[in-house]
Amino acid sequence: MSLRGNKITAAQKGFLHPLGFNRRRFVYIFFFVCSLYFCFSSFTETNPYFVITVKDLEFTNPLGFPQPVYDFKNNKVTPEGFVLGRKLFYDPILSKDSSVSCAFCHQRIAAFAHIDHTLSHGINGSIGNRNVPPLQNLIWQQTFMWDGGINHLELQPLAPITNGREMAESLKGVLAKLQNNKAYEADFKSAFNDTLITSEKLLKALAQFTGMMISSNSKYDRYVKGEEDFSLHELNGLQLFRSHCINCHKEPLFTDNTFRNIGLKPDTALRDSGRIKITGIADDYMKFKVPGLRNVEMTYPYMHDGRFRTLQQVLAHYANGKFFTNYDKSIEKNIGLTAQEQADIIAFLKTLTDQQFLHDRRFADPNFR
Ligand code: HEC
Ligand code: HEC
Repeated sequence: MSLRGNKITAAQKGFLHPLGFNRRRFVYIFFFVCSLYFCFSSFTETNPYFVITVKDLEFTNPLGFPQPVYDFKNNKVTPEGFVLGRKLFYDPILSKDSSVSCAFCHQRIAAFAHIDHTLSHGINGSIGNRNVPPLQNLIWQQTFMWDGGINHLELQPLAPITNGREMAESLKGVLAKLQNNKAYEADFKSAFNDTLITSEKLLKALAQFTGMMISSNSKYDRYVKGEEDFSLHELNGLQLFRSHCINCHKEPLFTDNTFRNIGLKPDTALRDSGRIKITGIADDYMKFKVPGLRNVEMTYPYMHDGRFRTLQQVLAHYANGKFFTNYDKSIEKNIGLTAQEQADIIAFLKTLTDQQFLHDRRFADPNFR
């Protein structure tokens, strides 16, 4: 029987598709894919984990904390501004080849320090010359960086963006990329009621996000408020800390915002002499910012160059008394701290871990929806 004689109905003819679909099946699949897409997109839009409301951003000064240095009155935090700051913080678009975001170096799990490198790593695998500090309670900080080279939270991001070993971009370059991006145009419009993307708005949005990183609910805080008890070791550690360390690591922020020399031998390869580079004052040689110790259990390695991997090594440095020249005499008190005393101080330091801050959904990477 010839093909010509084979009766194919007109309807059948129309339904045939080279891949074997017929039209009805195609329509089913089409609607199935569309509904999947809509389900997924509505999930990402409204997933409550990533939604930020005005209530999420309410700020009350934690009990016992001083007045913040950074005043949010000049940069009112709004859900739209905060969400834009979060998007920028997690977006490698801020770097020259779109490979390095702020979060690449500042990891949430480590209170926004960087735990798998001694020194910071940036664009093209280049290695910086300092350990990445945690980002927390920044609004109480008078200066930024290990040597205090920056004195305003809003100006701080310019340093990593333009540093050749970090993001290697120019402000002009970042702005051009953002201005050519329709999504960012809309984001800036909703945050600042203006589509014009300027460096001021970029820096203000980032400061809204990083400024809200506040850690004030550790076991230590609950102990101080009388809500939780310390173990005997923690209690002994607190007492030792208050007599040996508080001169510099002042409660409740665990820093007095000064620069001190704790007798660390300069690293001959890095040749980092600290604060003297900023002030030119000879006495500032090897002085570094007193780091706030909140979440210190999570922010290893330690010191400006990440030379110590553990808190045991830090305590051993203070206790062994082998201090390099011109150090601050108040550390001499620590010489001879016994192994048990060092262990108790460490037990106390671990009460500064703030699980609520480390798992705060507001600071989570919005790209992992
Ligand atoms: C390549 C790694 C890297 C990237 C990327 C990076 N940072 Fe940093 N950040 C560091 C290092 C290292 C320091 C300390 C530098 C110093 O003391 O010289 C630092 C310091 C800071 C500080 C000061 C903290 C303090 O206590 O003094 C803030 C705030 C900060 N970074 C925010 C940001 C923001 C916002 C971005 C994105 C625009 C960013 N960083 C990108 C590595 C990085
Ligand atoms: C004279 C002031 C001073 C005293 C006293 C002092 N510290 Fe420090 N501490 C510093 C400075 C400054 C640094 C940073 C030094 C650097 O990076 O070069 C530091 C760093 C640290 C670090 C590393 C933190 C990090 O994020 O890298 C820990 C932990 C620490 N100190 C704990 C203690 C303990 C515990 C005591 C008491 C036994 C103590 N300190 C006493 C000034 C002091």
